[in-house]
Amino acid sequence: MITKCLFPAAGYGTRFLPATKAMPKEMMPIVNKPLIQYGVEEAIEAGLTDIGVVSGRGKRAIEDHFDISYELEHQIAGTSKEILLDDIRDVINQCTFSYTRQVEMKGLGHAILTGEPLIGDNPFAVLLADDFCTNGTGVLKQMVSLFNEYQCSIVAIEEVPRDQTQNYGVIEGTEIQGGLFKISGMVEKPAPEDAPTNLAIIGRYILTPDIFDIIRNVAPGAGGEIQITDAINEQCKKRMVLGYKFKGRRFDCGSLVGFVEATNYVYGEMNK
Ligand code: UTP
Repeated sequence: MITKCLFPAAGYGTRFLPATKAMPKEMMPIVNKPLIQYGVEEAIEAGLTDIGVVSGRGKRAIEDHFDISYELEHQIAGTSKEILLDDIRDVINQCTFSYTRQVEMKGLGHAILTGEPLIGDNPFAVLLADDFCTNGTGVLKQMVSLFNEYQCSIVAIEEVPRDQTQNYGVIEGTEIQGGLFKISGMVEKPAPEDAPTNLAIIGRYILTPDIFDIIRNVAPGAGGEIQITDAINEQCKKRMVLGYKFKGRRFDCGSLVGFVEATNYVYGEMNK
């Protein structure tokens, strides 16, 4: 049974400078809720309430967000604004939060390995808060129910236009049932002409704990970073790894255009 969800949140968020100079990218709000809170709510929906955060320098605001602010509570107690804190209070009450710091930003694989002390020898989910998913049942909930059936690592995938494969990890595999692929290999950021498919990995993973030893032995890839894609590529040679075409809609909130689209979408939904 999975109870743990890891949030790698140590990246610099350079695409959002200067906003991210002193503020974590994960705290950027879609309308009035930070990206990472949407992520934690998705984890809770999937039954994952042990939240581990891999943070870094300048990320204190994340810890403060998932804590009580007595001064603020006192200030708005008994006013109409109290309701605005209901969601975050629920989140705080339902979860335990633990934090560790990635001292050098050596890539997503390295960030996940940094989270090992928070995870231990357990299967766990990974959620990248800048991939904002919405519309229907949460993606992690869909993936946890698949994990309960298959007991193996699962990555969420999405079809992307061919000319965008260089922005993603891309899988190769055989479809074993509608939208579910047994992965035979994966490659990080292939040029369109080299990409085996247009099935791109997005920021939702369920990983079995043998992944930590594999990451430890993965050589740094492009840009000297330790890529999780390379580690899962090794894992799928040893045991079954699945790719799951999730149901719902994803916005790449690590990019300006995706962030603006998500904001317009959520604001539209709020005013329906
Ligand atoms: P990205 O490469 O999209 O994020 O990493 P970034 O580096 O923060 O953003 P840009 O490209 O400079 O704008 C994907 C996810 O992995 C985390 C990031 O925080 C983000 O959630 N990450 C990445 C780490 O935690 N550590 C790393 O060393 C790299």
